[in-house]
Parts: sequence; C-alpha cells; structure tokens
Amino acid sequence: MLKTVAEQVAADAAESVRAAWGALRDGGDLRVDTKSADTDVVTAADRESEELVRQRLAQLRPGEPVLGEEAGGEAAEGGVTWVVDPIDGTVNFLYGLPGFAVSLAAQVDGVSVAGAVIEPVSGRRWTAARGEGAWLDGRRLSVSEPARLDLALVGTGFAYLRERRLRQGRLVAGLLGEVRDIRRLGAASLDLCAVGAGRLDAYFEHGLNRWDWAAGALVAEEAGARVLLPGSAPDLGEDATFASAPPIAAELRERLAAAGAAEV
Ligand code: IPD
Ligand code: CA
Ligand code: CA
Repeated sequence: MLKTVAEQVAADAAESVRAAWGALRDGGDLRVDTKSADTDVVTAADRESEELVRQRLAQLRPGEPVLGEEAGGEAAEGGVTWVVDPIDGTVNFLYGLPGFAVSLAAQVDGVSVAGAVIEPVSGRRWTAARGEGAWLDGRRLSVSEPARLDLALVGTGFAYLRERRLRQGRLVAGLLGEVRDIRRLGAASLDLCAVGAGRLDAYFEHGLNRWDWAAGALVAEEAGARVLLPGSAPDLGEDATFASAPPIAAELRERLAAAGAAEV
C-alpha cells in the first residue's frame, strides 16, 4: 500500500534527521550551504535525509521516479512518482526550533494519492490516502468548524526572495483585521497538516514547490478542508496554495482576492 510505504520511508528519514538534530544540540558542527537567497539554506542533514529516502524507495518501489528538493528529478506520466521534501522547515531545524518535518507523497499524474508528514522531534505522524481519510498517529482527522472568519486562526508563510516576501507581508497586513490572528510556523507541510487536524482554521501561501504541499495538502483535503493547489485559483495568484475549513473558505478566499492576492 502506497501510504504504508510513504510512512515507513518517511519514518526512516525522520530518524536520521532526529539524530542530526541531536548531534547539533550536543554542539556538533553543521555544514550549511545557501540556495536561492542567502537565507535559503540547505544542510548536510537535508541531503542525507533525501538520499536515504531515495535508497529506501529504490528497495521497496524499484523503478519509480523520485522528485526531491535537493537532488531534483522529474515526474513520470502515468505511473507513481514519489515527491519528497527531506526537511521541510530547515530554518527551524537550524535555529533549534522543533517545527520541521520529512514530507513524502506518492503522486499519479501530478495528483497526490498517498502521503506522510513526520515531525522528527515529536515523532508525530500525519498520513493520508486519497478517498480513504487522514490520520495523526493512527487517529482519524477532521478539520475545525470555525463559526466566523474573524474568529479564525490562519497560517501563512513567506518566500525566501525579498521583493516577494514584502508583497506577501502587505497581503497579510490587509488580512490582520479580518481574522483572530495569523501564525507563521515555518514548515508548509506541517501548516497543511495543522489545518487537517483543526489546529489552524486555514492556511495560504504563495510560491510553494510541489514537495512542500504534496503530502500535507492531501492530509488537509482528506480531513475535509477545501484545498486549492498552485495553478488552480487565478483569483488568488497562479502559484497560491490555500487550505481552509469549509465554513470560512469562501469568505477567506474573497478577502484574499480583494486584498490583491493575485498580484503577490
Ligand atoms: C519552506 C517552508 C516554509 C515556507 C517556504 C518553504 P524549506 O521550506 O515550508 O514554511 O514558507 O515557502 O520553502 O525551505 O524549509 O524546505
Ligand atoms: Ca519545504
Ligand atoms: Ca526542504
């Protein structure tokens, strides 16, 4: 079963990330390189986690392509493609904040069919299979039921590129008076799982990559959230990701569109 494979392999990678985190806490050295911006970092632990995922998938699912943040790859047409973010929330990892995860999804023709998001420090495991549901540590998930948008807790995130994050900041400023509060937790996969678990009422972000949302968006959707993926909501912007508890979804979408989300 694809969900079982995703969970097993992500758990192995999470164990390697947890060991690296422990070594770091004990004063160990961390090799850090930068990518799209000086603030966009990659550590040896990111690369090791992705390598482990690739090795395990080669054993368990030989021949199926893997698309990963650090080593790249391409999606296959027709069959299963595995999509991995080896550490989502690397900046949290680097600063000793526990909110980071290994995210692994199986996609068919760009659509997630199974996925797992595992938080190494807490050991929490979010899993989902299309049409079957979403779980946190085996407990079935369902989204929150916020009565009003002004009582909703909304998560978001910011891109690494300066000009873009300034535009994102302006959009968030326009929303602050409309909602209970905003959270920027630092790992998109966990934000999406938080919507699935009712720990956030909604979440949106521009500029995510496939590996950021592939597993978490399935968790949110299978828990009952309204989910919009990049390319599917031009009123919010071509690369917007949006997940919301149903009672506030339409109003939040309208407010974001009215506040200029498409221009972010
Ligand atoms: C980032 C995190 C962050 C989000 C960024 C992502 P990374 O992923 O998910 O919360 O705001 O857009 O790039 O770089 O830690 O894998
Ligand atoms: Ca990521
Ligand atoms: Ca990452």
